[in-house]
Amino acid sequence: MDIKSLISQLTLEEKAGLCSGADFWHTKAVERLGIPASMVSDGPHGLRKQDEQVDHLGVNDSIKAVCFPAASATAASFDREMLCRMGEAIGDSCQHEKLSVVLGPAVNIKRSPLCGRNFEYFSEDPYLAGQMAAALIHGIQSRNVGTSIKHFAVNSQEHRRMSSSADVDERTLREIYFPAFETAVKQEQPWTVMCSYNRINGVFASENPWLLTEVLRGEWGFEGYVMSDWGAVSDRVAGVKAGLDLEMPASGGFNDRKIVEAVRSGKLDEAVVDQAVERILNIVFRFVEHAKPETPWDKEAQHLLAAEVAADCMVLLKNEDGVLPLSREDEIAFIGEFAEKPRFQGGGSSHINCFKTTSALEAAKGLKIRYARGYSVADDCATDEMIREAVEAARSAKVAVVFAGLPDVYESEGYDRTHMRMPDCQNRLIEAVAAANPNTVVVLYNGSPVEMPWIGSVKAVLEAYLGGQAVGLATVRVLFGEVNPSGKLPESFPKKLADNPSYLFYGGEGDTAEYREGIFVGYRYYDRKETELLFPFGHGLSYTSFEFSDLRLSRDRITDQESLTATVRVTNTGKCAGKTVVQLYVGDCESSVFRPVRELKGFDKVFLEPGESKDVSFTLDKRSFAYWNTKIHDWHVESGEFRIEIGHSSRDIACCAAVQVDSTAEIPCRYDMNSIFMDLMRDPRANTVLKPLLDGIREMFMPSDEEQSEAAQEAISNEMSLAMVKYMPLRSILSFAGDKADPGLIDKILKALNE
Ligand code: BGC
Repeated sequence: MDIKSLISQLTLEEKAGLCSGADFWHTKAVERLGIPASMVSDGPHGLRKQDEQVDHLGVNDSIKAVCFPAASATAASFDREMLCRMGEAIGDSCQHEKLSVVLGPAVNIKRSPLCGRNFEYFSEDPYLAGQMAAALIHGIQSRNVGTSIKHFAVNSQEHRRMSSSADVDERTLREIYFPAFETAVKQEQPWTVMCSYNRINGVFASENPWLLTEVLRGEWGFEGYVMSDWGAVSDRVAGVKAGLDLEMPASGGFNDRKIVEAVRSGKLDEAVVDQAVERILNIVFRFVEHAKPETPWDKEAQHLLAAEVAADCMVLLKNEDGVLPLSREDEIAFIGEFAEKPRFQGGGSSHINCFKTTSALEAAKGLKIRYARGYSVADDCATDEMIREAVEAARSAKVAVVFAGLPDVYESEGYDRTHMRMPDCQNRLIEAVAAANPNTVVVLYNGSPVEMPWIGSVKAVLEAYLGGQAVGLATVRVLFGEVNPSGKLPESFPKKLADNPSYLFYGGEGDTAEYREGIFVGYRYYDRKETELLFPFGHGLSYTSFEFSDLRLSRDRITDQESLTATVRVTNTGKCAGKTVVQLYVGDCESSVFRPVRELKGFDKVFLEPGESKDVSFTLDKRSFAYWNTKIHDWHVESGEFRIEIGHSSRDIACCAAVQVDSTAEIPCRYDMNSIFMDLMRDPRANTVLKPLLDGIREMFMPSDEEQSEAAQEAISNEMSLAMVKYMPLRSILSFAGDKADPGLIDKILKALNE
């Protein structure tokens, strides 16, 4: 399709019109030129194709579809291949339904456990979020269906989401809030990007040229179109200039007319509008040219895939005395309404109208299960009668499994949680059941961390997150050992909300949300602070055991332009087959900037039969060692030693090795009379210049031994004097040298240093 020639035949009004939606879910058509409309749809863990009664908050029904596990769950799989398969299935259903773009994945960082949309987001860790997003995008786009990675950027709270400004420093943006987008864009070229509602440092994402053009297109090479989140446009003309191509859904023509007026009055270059139209039409036609409506959509097969994915995601948090897996021969109590009606997805725009669901009770048909409802989700209560029945069921069983978690109203798009507690009635129920049966297991259906006041009274906890429509089937498979759990926590579970680094300022004051904890988000903070956690990032047990050993590095010294291979041996030392996740963390042993103790820079999921061993290798490059340097506005590796750690979690490191990395970059530095000696002496170049002068300088303001009283000599040791000198600025030569001062000396030194 010759899109440029099409654009040359469009009127200005038509072009402006193409830059906003025809309705809630369609781009506009221009029939006289054969430009078709194309349909987009939420996502991201299935289709939410709405035909008639449209809305974007999941209020009205959409077509019957398959609900896969939400991102909070799929991130726990640490399984790229699985995410890719899920993406392929979603892509196939889009082809079948003629949907050109899935609105997702959503990759915002879980800064606080309170964000209402955490269930839809992957992780507190940008590397993990980026890898998972890239895998899902790869799968969906392999079917010639687009994705819209969202919400770009820093949409880590729902509170005042359409007006609030996320005020974040440059380094934190680059190290924490951008990389998931950056990785996905550089590796997978999502067809579209959705900008977020919020402002970033005062400027709306939808009209932020630095964000949408300089960084996204200029630095990362994004080639698709940017669309607004639904209703995220404030100043449309500023948006077009900034690189916001498509406004969604539309403004009833109001903003289109503004674009026309701006062009006519010379405030907006028509070429900029042409460019936006070109980007949109490229994608519209890319889909049209690869449309395959004959693609079958086998929902039953996808239901089974959803079960497989869900089982791969479940995280076994605790398993004392090997109470799990359960035996099919034993009498088991299933307690709690979620056993019958599981919570498996969150509320809002990602809400999917499932063609069917499988509860744990249904999936366990034929087994010796006694069920007690335990609590009512709708009434948020557990009556005495319910508790009594639950206790009775628990007493009669070998093992009591309580199905608990968060009801819909507790977490949703549109608002944040105000606390991290589960409903009181469920906590009470768990305590009562645990008191009646020492073998109590808790299964959790929730989209974000909860406090577990009963953790000491129960034997096992299985975190199933929001596992999609087949979650019951997956839960039963894991509980009874048909699937060996292999999920790992994609976020830290603090003991209490107040432990979270954003606790003091989360949500912000009015429309200002300051991200004051900076780069210290999640385990980056907890590990530095040595905070005791309920469960750490990366944690997850298995029915077998794994050993990591024999960590080898390809080199012991590299430059930041070279790569390093780390290889580790993984052995299944237990009695059954299973998968585990090998996690690789990197830590800078000594740094002049604040850095986390360790950061995830690689992971791999491996399957091993009992007794089997495999070597797993990781390639590390400059980015694995770098931090964002705000002087050069670029990634920088400080020369020195780095720790390479292989762990079962961020708190369970099994092997460690060290590598020396040498920087090839020079950080430009100009000294002046306020530069202090410590900085000068650290710089090898400055050190050489200063060396011959240093003795003289010391003499100037340190009296000679003969001149000093004995007492003074004792009071100020050489070491102390050096320690004091290091914070002095160059200009202090003059202040302290008295009549020995040489006024020209500073100039001479600076000239030599800055040459
Ligand atoms: C959400 C997006 C969603 C859009 C369309 C917005 O409210 O923030 O994630 O894709 O609605 O439903």
